Amino acid sequence: MIRFENVTFGYSDDRLILDDLSFHIPKGDFVALIGANGAGKSTISRLTNGLLHPTKGHVYLNDKDTLKTPSSVLARDCGFLFQNPDRQICENTVKDEIAFSMKAQGWPVDKIKDRVDKVLETFELDPEWFPFSRSRGERQRIALASVLVCEPGLLILDEPTTGLDYLECIRIMDYVTKLNKEKSITVLMVSHDMELVQSYARNVLVLNHGKLLGQGPVKDIMKDMDLLKKARVLPAQIPELTLRFGDEFKDVFTVEEMLDALRNRTNKGGAL
Ligand SMILES: Nc1ncnc2c1ncn2[C@@H]1O[C@H](COP(=O)(O)OP(=O)(O)OP(=O)(O)O)[C@@H](O)[C@H]1O
Ligand SMILES: [Mg+2]
Repeated sequence: MIRFENVTFGYSDDRLILDDLSFHIPKGDFVALIGANGAGKSTISRLTNGLLHPTKGHVYLNDKDTLKTPSSVLARDCGFLFQNPDRQICENTVKDEIAFSMKAQGWPVDKIKDRVDKVLETFELDPEWFPFSRSRGERQRIALASVLVCEPGLLILDEPTTGLDYLECIRIMDYVTKLNKEKSITVLMVSHDMELVQSYARNVLVLNHGKLLGQGPVKDIMKDMDLLKKARVLPAQIPELTLRFGDEFKDVFTVEEMLDALRNRTNKGGAL
């Protein structure tokens, strides 16, 4: 679905942001891209959807070389939720906002109406709301709805839950997970929040100063404290605790698994 081949990129000639970066994300995967501030995560997102082009190397989206494909064509394959929803929202009503991308892509009017009505219902949004007067969580939901209405094969989420409360966060992430599982939509999620990464991602790419430090299944990466430290990322709490508790807890990854393991240990008469 996404292929970076020896990608080098700089916003200016005198400073490289990405340095000879190669990786592949297969269709249907749910990948988290993690790394410290300024590591180059958002730059990777913008290279993937053709908003930026590599200085050297190639980026392929669905086997289309982004250097040779107009961004209007790439946009059909790739929905992009910006770090800040207010950079995305541009219409005065929710219904116009959600219809905006479908109109821009030239969909037939009846198809637009069907999809917009369905998305409004799914996301529990009022069609007449003025988007900018809504809460941050509602604006994020509006922005996500307007991306998903086009049913893209790839969804890029750049810090999707910043500024959301716990329930809003769960609501959005559960919806994205459902799409990933039921419709095989590929998800690339940029996040600083390792609790979020641990709960939702299947695989992880670790970026540091524009280079890939590591990649692998979320369970392995979240327990690799040396790697996370090098990438200047704070580990999630449960994987960190399991390492301190020793071998008996090596398969524990979630809060529920931790509670079960602790109950087992107490039942056996062990100390906590
Ligand atoms: N439009 C731009 N022009 C010049 N430099 C930029 C531009 N956008 C980003 N940069 C620089 O490129 C580097 C990588 O930025 P990027 O936004 O990709 O990092 P990030 O990993 O997404 O960081 P954050 O976690 O803070 O969002 C940073 O040093 C940043 O200052
Ligand atoms: Mg960023």
